[in-house]
Amino acid sequence: MAGVNPYIERAEYTPATKPYTITYRHDGEETVIEVNPDEIPYTRTGLPGSILDIAEGHNLDMEHTCGGVCACSTCHVIVREGFESTNEQTDDELDQLEEAPGLTITSRLGCQCVPDGTRDLVVEIPSWNRNAVKETPHG
Ligand code: FES
Repeated sequence: MAGVNPYIERAEYTPATKPYTITYRHDGEETVIEVNPDEIPYTRTGLPGSILDIAEGHNLDMEHTCGGVCACSTCHVIVREGFESTNEQTDDELDQLEEAPGLTITSRLGCQCVPDGTRDLVVEIPSWNRNAVKETPHG
């Protein structure tokens, strides 16, 4: 299925026109990806040029239970730098985000968050989303 949910408000976004980087922080590591606008979309998952699309296109595993159509919250990421260069959240994205654990004011759904390429980004993939079924000890 292509990455558009016909039942939600259509997200407005401006794809990047020049190269920029996204640094993904995950599991205590960092992966820096050079985004080439000519290669967008990298996949058919999430909005073209979204944080999820770019991650998937570079074999960086992110949860995306609904397939990138703004119908879950498993692709929750926290944008640590460059938030101002991302598209505005729709009400549907905000509704889904409310279900995400560890919500912050710069939380986004990776599949709906499209940077415009005017800033380099630093994005944290929360560990609870990357390993949802793993039991963690409670102190
Ligand atoms: S993958 Fe389900 S909302 Fe992003």
